[in-house]
Amino acid sequence: MEANITLIKGDGIGPEIVNEAVKVLDRIASLYGHKFNYNEVLMGGCSIDEYGIPLTDEAVKTAKAADAVLLGAVGGNTDTSPWYKLPPEKRPEAGLLKIRKELGLYANIRPAILFDELRHSCPLKESTGEKGFDFVIFRELTGGLYFGERSTTVVEGKRKAVDTLVYTEDEIERVARRAFEAAQGRRKEVCSVDKANVLDSSRLWRQVVAEVAKDFPEVKLTNMLVDNCAMQLIANPAQFDVILTENMFGDILSDEASMVTGSLGMLPSASLGEGRFGLYEPSHGSAPDIAGKDKANPIATIMSSAMLLRYSFGLSKEAESIEDAVKSVLKEGYRTGDIFSEGKTLIGCKEMGDRIADK
Ligand code: NAI
Ligand code: MG
Repeated sequence: MEANITLIKGDGIGPEIVNEAVKVLDRIASLYGHKFNYNEVLMGGCSIDEYGIPLTDEAVKTAKAADAVLLGAVGGNTDTSPWYKLPPEKRPEAGLLKIRKELGLYANIRPAILFDELRHSCPLKESTGEKGFDFVIFRELTGGLYFGERSTTVVEGKRKAVDTLVYTEDEIERVARRAFEAAQGRRKEVCSVDKANVLDSSRLWRQVVAEVAKDFPEVKLTNMLVDNCAMQLIANPAQFDVILTENMFGDILSDEASMVTGSLGMLPSASLGEGRFGLYEPSHGSAPDIAGKDKANPIATIMSSAMLLRYSFGLSKEAESIEDAVKSVLKEGYRTGDIFSEGKTLIGCKEMGDRIADK
């Protein structure tokens, strides 16, 4: 097939890790007879430096016209970078929120997998590391607290800040449907996470999810309160198959889940909208502390490109071939610094990309 991919390399380690993913995609294209065309746009700090804003309308237009988007990461050191002296709506991360909204990416999918080869580095190896785990979080991405109206005022000499949390049944239904569809191809269990004992938005969430569940009789639905879920992810992550949750809860739980695997540099993510279009990016940030030093782990981005092939292009065989290549390079003992341990071979970002592409 021939397809167009927009690359948003971003800031920090972004360019380094995206280049390695492109290396792997190109190898796949030549092996399987596909043609991937790339165009590049700026987002984040690099766009602020060039255009004064974190994402131009032109860049959004280019991304919209593509079949899929591969993103590195945006942002710099939040204590020292001048980007963080700008008002919040002009900072690098505002580009992320804008592109998600503009591209209608309402479902964020983050797998949390414990790779066999990395079991020793799982912080939970004493309790659950032995069993391993493999679950995926479906997070609603364009509604809720992060997109509600907000204000800061002064009332009788005291400052007051308000954020609003809004969900409509349509917003809940479409992401729920995606989660149930995914569960059908997995262990057929959806755990919906909310705070229905307190929040109205969560009570609506629970009702709508139960209605969607009726269309998927073979999938088992359970509900869990978010504070309990935060504990269960550590106490027994193996119990989960698909976790479905709203925007802020999903933000926090998916970062927690990534640490439970002991390997932030390994975890991919996909953000999907209507149809097959999607944006794919590693779960981690721009790691300014190691940028430009050939130290970054490109595996999360390479695994994200595998998700791109699977979800946006329907190329499952090619996606599996990338995932197998990653596992086999790990099996041979090659590690970047973030996943390095005694007795293994320490390599840089470029060599990791080369080795995976060669496999
Ligand atoms: P981070 O994920 O960039 O880094 C956390 C720690 O993990 C650092 O020590 C870093 O060196 C390490 N790390 C992350 N990815 C790695 C990789 N691929 N290989 C090796 N080590 C890796 O999170 P942090 O430090 O909180 O944020 C840094 C910047 O990234 C901030 O400006 C933040 O706003 C931004 N950020 C951007 C995201 C995005 O573009 N989607 C997501 C999260 C943060
Ligand atoms: Mg986050």
